[in-house]
Amino acid sequence: MRIDVVSIFPEYLAPLELSLIGKARQDGLLDLHVHDLRGFTTDKHRSVDDTPYGGGAGMVMKAEPWAQALASVAGADEAKATKPVLIVPSPAGERFTQALAHELAEEEQLVFACGRYEGIDERVIEWAAEHFTVRPMSLGDYVLNGGEVAVLAMVEAIGRLLPGVVGNPESLVEESHSDGLLEYPVYTKPSSWRDREVPAVLLSGNHGKIAQWRRHQQYQRTAERRPDLLETFDAGKLPRADRTA
Ligand code: ADE
Repeated sequence: MRIDVVSIFPEYLAPLELSLIGKARQDGLLDLHVHDLRGFTTDKHRSVDDTPYGGGAGMVMKAEPWAQALASVAGADEAKATKPVLIVPSPAGERFTQALAHELAEEEQLVFACGRYEGIDERVIEWAAEHFTVRPMSLGDYVLNGGEVAVLAMVEAIGRLLPGVVGNPESLVEESHSDGLLEYPVYTKPSSWRDREVPAVLLSGNHGKIAQWRRHQQYQRTAERRPDLLETFDAGKLPRADRTA
C-alpha cells in the first residue's frame, strides 16, 4: 500500500518511522511519504492560510497550495485503474472505526490531507472528488488542533492490518472491536501478585471453559463500558447465559 500525508508540520509524522509501522516501511510492506504543504506554494512568504469570507475567528487554508499538493501526490497525469482515497481528518467527518480501518487496508493508495486552523477551503474538497474518493473522517467527538495526530492514529490502525505487518496475525482476531465486543482481560506470571490471583479458570488447562469465560468477560466489559456497542451486536454470538442479559 502507498500512503501520502500532506501537512504544514511534516515533523509531526516522525513517529511513523518507529516501531511496527517503521519496520513495515523498512520491509517494503508500506510505502509512506510525508509532504510539506508549503513546498507547493509559489509566493515568497509560502503562505497557506487567509481570513475567512463571511468573517469569524481564525484562518482558513487556501485552496491553491492544496490543489497543487494533491494533484502531485495523486499522480493526476497518470492513468489509474482506481482513484486513490483522500482522507480529510476533521471533527466534522464520518467516525473512523475498526471496520473502516479494515476497509481502507484494502486500498492501493491513501492520501491524508492534514488541515490546520479553521479548516481547508471547501472548494478543494469538491475539486478533489475529480481525482479521489474523498472521505472526511473523525477520530471522535472532540477537537484536535489539526489532522496530524488523527493521521498518526489512522495510519497505525490501518497499517497494522496489512499482510505481514503484525507478526502473529492471530493477535488481530481476538482484540477489541474485531468482532464487535471489547477485549477480555489478560494476565501473565506470577499467578499470585500482591494477594491478587489470576482467575482459576485460566490455570485449568480446559480450553473450552477458558474460551467461554473470555467470551463472558468480553460481554460484561462491553455492557459496562460501551453499552452502545451491544445495540448492533448479534446476541447469537454470545454464550447462552449472556444472550438475554
Ligand atoms: N481534526 C481536529 N479534530 C479532529 C478529530 N476529532 N478527528 C479527526 N481530525 C480532527
